[in-house]
Parts: sequence; C-alpha cells; structure tokens
Amino acid sequence: MTVFPWPALDGIAYGGDYNPEQWPRDVWDEDVALMRDAGVSLVSVGIFSWAALEPSEGSFDLAWLDELLDLLHANGIAVDLGTPTASPPAWFFAAYPEARVVAADGTVLGFGSRGMASHAAPEYRTAIARVAGQLAHRYADHPAVVMWHVHNEYGVPVGEDFSPRSVAAWRVWLQRRHGSLDALNAAWGTAFWGQTFHDWEHVVAPAAMPSVPNPAMRLDWARYTDEQLRECFRIERDAIRAHASQPITTNFMAHQSWNTDLWTWAQEVDVVSDDHYLWSPDSDAQVGLALAADLTRSVAGGRPWMLMEHSTSAVNWQGVNVAKRPGEMERNAMAHLARGADAVMFFQWRASRSGAEKFHSAMLPHAGPRSRVFREVVTLGDHVGRLAELRGSRVRAEVAVLYDWESLWAQDLEWRPSDALGFRERVRAYYERLWRDGVTVDFAHPEHDLSGYRLVVAPASYLLTAEGAANLTRYVDGGGTLLVSCFAAVVDEHDAVHPGGFGAPLRDALGVAVEEFLPLRTGETCVVDLDGEVLEADVWSEHLVVDGAEVRGTYRGGPADGMPAVTRHAHGAGAGWYVSTRLGVGALAPVLAAVYRDAGIEPGGQPEGLEVVTRHGDDADYVFAVNHRAEPAALDVVGMELLSGKPVDGEFEIPAGDVAVFRTTQRPQGGGR
Ligand code: GAL
Repeated sequence: MTVFPWPALDGIAYGGDYNPEQWPRDVWDEDVALMRDAGVSLVSVGIFSWAALEPSEGSFDLAWLDELLDLLHANGIAVDLGTPTASPPAWFFAAYPEARVVAADGTVLGFGSRGMASHAAPEYRTAIARVAGQLAHRYADHPAVVMWHVHNEYGVPVGEDFSPRSVAAWRVWLQRRHGSLDALNAAWGTAFWGQTFHDWEHVVAPAAMPSVPNPAMRLDWARYTDEQLRECFRIERDAIRAHASQPITTNFMAHQSWNTDLWTWAQEVDVVSDDHYLWSPDSDAQVGLALAADLTRSVAGGRPWMLMEHSTSAVNWQGVNVAKRPGEMERNAMAHLARGADAVMFFQWRASRSGAEKFHSAMLPHAGPRSRVFREVVTLGDHVGRLAELRGSRVRAEVAVLYDWESLWAQDLEWRPSDALGFRERVRAYYERLWRDGVTVDFAHPEHDLSGYRLVVAPASYLLTAEGAANLTRYVDGGGTLLVSCFAAVVDEHDAVHPGGFGAPLRDALGVAVEEFLPLRTGETCVVDLDGEVLEADVWSEHLVVDGAEVRGTYRGGPADGMPAVTRHAHGAGAGWYVSTRLGVGALAPVLAAVYRDAGIEPGGQPEGLEVVTRHGDDADYVFAVNHRAEPAALDVVGMELLSGKPVDGEFEIPAGDVAVFRTTQRPQGGGR
C-alpha cells in the first residue's frame, strides 16, 4: 500500500469536536471517562478558542490547554489541534475595526457571532500567523497531538468580502490574472452595457448594483475569493509547519461549499477531511451523504479521508431539525466509511448549555449518558473499533461524474434561460440514479485523465473550457462512453458563449448542435419517447439539430414537440450520449440502462435501498451493506461479517435499517478498464 500522510493513530479514528473551555474543570474528568467508555480515540480541540488562548493581543494563556492535552494523553485520547481563526476575539475587532468583513450590500459585519475577519486585512493575516505559530511552537512535540486542524470550514459563514482593502487586493489579483486592462475588458466583454474600464482604479467588485453585475466579473470574483481564502490557509499551515511535523488538514464541505474549489484545496492539505450534515427536508438524505462522501474521496485523489464532523442526531440550523431515528447514525457513519473515510467524527462531544448551538445534538447529549444517543455512540465506537483492519483500503469505480466548481459558480448566476435548472440539482439527480442502480462512482474534473473509466457522466457542464471539451472528445475517441446532460458546454472560462454556438466544443463527440433553448413554464411538462418508452420531463427542452448522431428519444408535446430529445453518437472507438431535457431520477432509469449496456457496465443488482460498496485492501475486500429499507435484504457473500465476528458462507440477511460489513477474499466485480 502506498504511503501517504496520516495521523499517528491505530485503526479508524473515532471522536468529535471537544470544547471543554465551556465547562468547569471537574466536567473534564467525567468527559474523558465517558470518552473511554465510548471508544473515542481522537478529539478536535481549540477550534473556537481564540479568546481563551490569547485573551489580549500578543499575550497567551496556554496553561489550560497544557492541562487538557496532558489529561487526554493520559487517557489514551489523541488530539487534532485546531487553530481558532474562524472566530477572532472581541479585542481583535475593537483594535482593528477596518478588518471587519463588508457584505455585498455594504453592511459591515460586527462581532458577537463567529466568522473570520477580512481575508485581505493585514492585521488578520498577522494575527492568524501569530496564534497558529504559537500553538505549533508549544505543541509540536506534545505526544497527544497527532494532527493539526486549520481554521473551520473556509468560506462559511463568510467568504466574500467587499471591504475597501479587499477591493484593492482584487485589483492587484486582476492585474496578475489578466496582465492588462485591455485583456480584462476583452475577457469580461465590457463593451456590453458600456462597462469598459480605462483606469485600474475604476475597476469595481460585484457589490450591490442597479442591475445584474457583469457575469464574467462575478466569476472572477469567485475565483479571487477562493484564492484569498486559500492564501489565509497557507499562512497558517506554513506557520505550523515551521515548528511541527504532524499532518495538517482543514475541514471541507463537499457539495455544500460555494466559495472553495476543492480540487485545488485538496492539493494544499496533507489529509482531506469533510463535514457532512443531513438536509432535513430531504427524505432521501442518505443519497446526498453518499454523494458528498464520494466527492470528498475524489478530491482526495482516492486516498482515505477523514469524516471530521457529522451529527449524532438533529442539527439546530435548519428550519425544522429532524432527529435521527434509532440506527440512522450508525447507517450514516458506516456509509461514510464505505466510501473511503478512515475516521468517524462528530460535532460535538458534549452538547453546549449556552450559545447558538445548544439545540444541536452531541455524542453526549443534554440527557446524559443514560440516553439512546449515548448508547448508540458507544455501540458505534465498538463497531468502528472492529473495522480497524480496513484502514487504507480503497474504493474503485468504473464511472466518473464530472464536477467543476467553476461551472457551479457560473451556472448559478442570474439571468440564465431558466432558474429552475440548477447545477447541484442536476448533479444530485444523475448521482441518485447511479446510487439507486448500485453503481459506485468517482467524481472528476473535466480536464482530468478519464481514460480509466468505462463511463463519464456530465450532469452540469454549463461552463466547459475548450481544453475540457477536447479532453472529453479524446476520451470518447479512445473508446469511452460519455453521457452529457442538457445546457452543456455553453460558455468558456469567461462566461462567454462558445464560438459556433451552444455546445459547439462537444459537437464532434456528441454529433448534435443546439440551435435554441426551449425552457418550460413552471409546472409544465413534456414527454420523451425513448425507444417506445414514455418518460416525463420538465423545466427544459432544446431545439436540437442532429449532426451525425442517432436519435434515441423524441419530444412529444411541449415547445420541442417532434424534435430529437436523446441522442447517441458513435465517435472513434466510443460513444457520446446527449440528454437535452430535465429528467427526474425515475425517468433517467431507462436512459442509464441503455448507457450502461453501451459502456459494458453491470449495475449492482441489489434491491433498491440496500447500499452496497466495496473497499479493496491488499489482502481482502470489504463489502459494506447499509440497509436503508424498511424490510430486510439479503446478500450473497463468503467470508466474515466483521461487526458480529461471524463467518458467512452464502446468503446473509441484513435486517431493516441495519448495517453489515464483510471481509471477503472472493473479489466482487469492479475496477477500471
Ligand atoms: C459545522 C461547524 C461546526 C458546527 C456544526 C453544526 O458546519 O463546523 O462548528 O457549527 O456545523 O452543525
């Protein structure tokens, strides 16, 4: 197995955020005793502790942290030591009011909540380097500290900053990116609406404006914000690295992050970690969980990653915060492990009595250790302990789903042909179809090497560079199967329509041209006749002109009545499929079935709702079976069920809502071409 940076821990890490500065000292002893009962091996400490660590500028009080780390170490609990920079203290904002973040509408964001200061403020940059360096200097050799956790969830609750300093930094950034004002004017298409700039000092940020800001400016602003946040990360990381050698992470939020392009961020960290919370209005939130986990593993380049936060039960920040039902936490945690996580962590260890998150669940809830949640936490800790041997094993996929934050930034701007066609919605719909079919996927960037995949799905490639399109075309040419969803390859990296029209860069691969978009009114539907099967579509249709492709589905009704809807084009040694409308998860089933046949993919075959994923180790494979159904489900396996320690030879029944993890030496199918 290849060597990669990982905290010095045995087995799969188990634990959560630990904020003992909120509690009297005697509670700490109870905490560590209960942590031991629960099998906790790792806690994240200090993430919001700046005010306690540096009570006044430049003067540090680390005695309490010394004591805490010693206590944890004495009890065999390792520490993921946080830097507290997502929540600067009151003195910082009092001393440097100009370092406050300014929102797009000009509102200056004040103290009394949490959130970083302006990423462009020199005082903030100095202060974060000082506090991170101080911690690293003191704890580089502390035996409890096995890793570093920089900041918290870059990009939320604030990422964009319209303060004068940020706008000045933006102009410098633009000069670096575009070189000259002429180049900037060309890239942004400022001839439109008379926006041409003749002086760098006149270049504005996309703050509040009378009408829609220049979309290319918006797109560059997203890139600028992302890079500024990453610079702040690097300042802290390098301040730590000057003293300490443990792996460094920062917690991502895959598929929920807006301001951070995680393909790039993942290159900066030693270990990728992710936070994931179920979205209560979604009754199939386990699908969103799987998507986030696969995306996290993919940005990590397939390497193991850490689930840094999830919840034992309800969160507190949604409109209605639904509690997890018995068994749900275990299913969630195991689904993350199945998809490559080597750590199961929660926000947070002990529920806070005060503050904005007092209604958030915890490993140790307000109800105390004699509670359902704590009992389940103890059971999960035991189960995680039994899975130590699968650490480092990898998930393999034959299918890649394209995911590009630049396309997300561009597609979700204003004044598109239909607001109803969103990036995340399309990614989720295609992903969910694959999930329900039991097909394991990786995510990939359009410019990645895709040659190892039998099938590449592009659910939301509105922005596709000429290089990305050439890469996809080469992929098809070389024998791959490509499935592209509507509104694709419309614009380049400046949000300018590709020369030759919508979708032009993919014309060779797909054999179609898009003449006009024909969105549907809210509530309106049309039908696609796919080889005699009738599929309902909504939101979107297109006037498609066939240029070599074979028509597999035709519109019936709606503005595109009688026109081609779904096409397949043989190109080189492969094939390019195009779906020009919005199909729901159900309607996508026959389309995907045809595409699987084309690509030589055999879907899992398990009953829908039984999530089966395999991790491949050096000597064995590990098959996770997470039963989300209300009925039992059976699986054919030979090997050992690791949670119960029982040998299995043939059909194994997984009760409703339960999880099984098998070690098997009979390799299930999988692997690239
Ligand atoms: C996360 C955050 C944690 C906590 C949690 C609550 O996004 O990192 O500090 O606020 O949400 O769900």
